Amino acid sequence: MKPIAVRAQIPESATLEINARAKKIAAQGQGARVISLSVGEPDFPPPPQVAAKTAAYITEKKGRLTYTAAHGIPELRRAVADKVKLRTGVAYDPEREVIITVGGKHGLSGALLALANPGARVLIPSPYWLSYPPMATIAGAEPVEIDCLDTGFKLTVEKLRAHAHPANVAIILNSPSNPTGAVYTHDEIVALCEEAARQDLWIISDEIYDRLLYEGAAFTSIPSLPGMRERTLLVNGVSKTYSMTGWRIGYVCGPEHVIKAMKTLQSHMTSNPCAAAQQAALAALTLTEEELAAHLAGPMENLRRRRQMAVDRLHGLPGLGVYPPAGAFYIMLDVRAFLGKPVGTSGQPVANDEEMAWRLLDEEHIAVAAASPFGASGFLRISFAVPDEDLLEGIDRLAHFLHLA
Ligand SMILES: Cc1ncc(COP(=O)(O)O)c(C=O)c1O
Repeated sequence: MKPIAVRAQIPESATLEINARAKKIAAQGQGARVISLSVGEPDFPPPPQVAAKTAAYITEKKGRLTYTAAHGIPELRRAVADKVKLRTGVAYDPEREVIITVGGKHGLSGALLALANPGARVLIPSPYWLSYPPMATIAGAEPVEIDCLDTGFKLTVEKLRAHAHPANVAIILNSPSNPTGAVYTHDEIVALCEEAARQDLWIISDEIYDRLLYEGAAFTSIPSLPGMRERTLLVNGVSKTYSMTGWRIGYVCGPEHVIKAMKTLQSHMTSNPCAAAQQAALAALTLTEEELAAHLAGPMENLRRRRQMAVDRLHGLPGLGVYPPAGAFYIMLDVRAFLGKPVGTSGQPVANDEEMAWRLLDEEHIAVAAASPFGASGFLRISFAVPDEDLLEGIDRLAHFLHLA
């Protein structure tokens, strides 16, 4: 039999794989309860309007939901344009410059499919969200990683300059970042954008964590900078801010010809995002800023407390490198000092971060994300969007595994 296509032979999303095994262990009910610090989902509820309005819509339609415009219902595109204008000051035409997608993930894939010819190079500062390189590969492009481990997890102008190449077509920037929580300052973003413009690059700006910021960190939306609107695709969605991961609604704003290309591709690939989910996103995105702030006040307070709690406790573990994040809800842990050393109940030496993540799950029943698939070999990523007791218990188990407690 002929083999499947090369682009389909990329590895499965490592975080989903470890979550699946964690669920399996939990279902078998063996030993201690499984604690998951590996997921990328907020643990707070979505705004109550979301369920109420969506249910009312489905009832009114008697369940008969039909196709929508390929780039989404006009009311939702208008709500996106209004929200983006309010947040960033940038005006987008809801008919021609906004597309609704099946989550931010699909928006990013669509952007790459629209921008990258086969063989084009897509620049990806590393550590990166683990789906970026496969998305570029699937689009036929070549993902080019720029190692930023030694520059505070942030791309610098010098590094961007060193990677100049005629085949470069786009760069993916993600601030606040998953997995590192790094947030570029306004000046850093301005300098990077100037260099990107000099190299005539498209910028795919993944702004999905734009509201999850700590300790005075400030968010800069790239298309709001002079000259950047015309070369930027702004990607966002309702998954993180509104805690609506399962609804699968994202959006992309950008120049008309790119959005048009994405719309055409989408029309052939999915027709449109789910009609009911678009209503749910409409309910979320038409909340006023005051309503949203009131809804997020409690969850943000929780996230701030848990971040601090986790950082304080992790700092007490000698040998562990801890990177307090300025945004999102993940903490990067440098475990390189423990590689090759005996760890865990078996006392066997551990070779790398991926083996450590699997053994943490098997031996301590705690799920964390190995950071190799995020471009950071020798690191783990933990999420603090979990209940306080899980976070503390999870860190205790990690300490036990590393023979620090
Ligand atoms: C950096 C980043 N971008 C985009 C997404 C996509 O989110 P969604 O497809 O749920 O909108 C995620 C989700 O984890 C993410 O971490």
